[in-house]
Amino acid sequence: MTTAKRGKLIAFEGIDGSGKSTQWARLGEWLKAQGRDVVLSFEPTKRPHGQWLRDAWASGIRLPVDEEKALFDADRREHIDEVIQPSLDRGQIVLLDRYYYSSAVYQGTRKGETPEAVLRHYEAFCPRPDVVLLFDLPVELALKRMQSSRSNLDAMEVSDNLETVRNAYLNLNRPEIVVVDASGSPDEVWDGVLRHAREW
Ligand code: TYD
Repeated sequence: MTTAKRGKLIAFEGIDGSGKSTQWARLGEWLKAQGRDVVLSFEPTKRPHGQWLRDAWASGIRLPVDEEKALFDADRREHIDEVIQPSLDRGQIVLLDRYYYSSAVYQGTRKGETPEAVLRHYEAFCPRPDVVLLFDLPVELALKRMQSSRSNLDAMEVSDNLETVRNAYLNLNRPEIVVVDASGSPDEVWDGVLRHAREW
């Protein structure tokens, strides 16, 4: 989308278990402590379409790809209209825990889809992030983290799926994407985040 925006849009991406949500919250606190006007938001949202998706996975159901895509699309359009674009127009810094790059790698790796086609679809109408922090780590490590923090894994978090998703993320060819090593401790990963944040 080409509307003039005044704020900054930063997306956090990575496979399940990458620890991106912890870093997203931490960067939000850090920026607020610097007196910045920050909005933290995430996808899928808690609106009806997003909640529908979450409920399906939690009960072990992987919806047909067309249905999954349609629900993410609807959820994202509402999110942009109600939160992302208005915040950018107000000059705020918007930190997103997942954005359309997630659709590119989770839905775009399903049968009959490609990550590039999904990216192009969203680039036609979504505000483009200034920076996308991609938290990368080996799938094995991500699974270990998830197993130690939760009792069971949902339908999106099985390992062969995550391997495909990780590779798809690393192959996304967009200049706004910055890869952050997410295999260290939360403090080590945070150092990597801060290094980038200071550059902006
Ligand atoms: P996640 O960030 O893990 O949410 P939570 O921490 O609340 O569990 O995201 C939930 C799942 O949504 C994750 O497995 C990836 C998936 N997802 C997609 O498949 N496509 C998308 O476009 C988005 C935003 C998320």
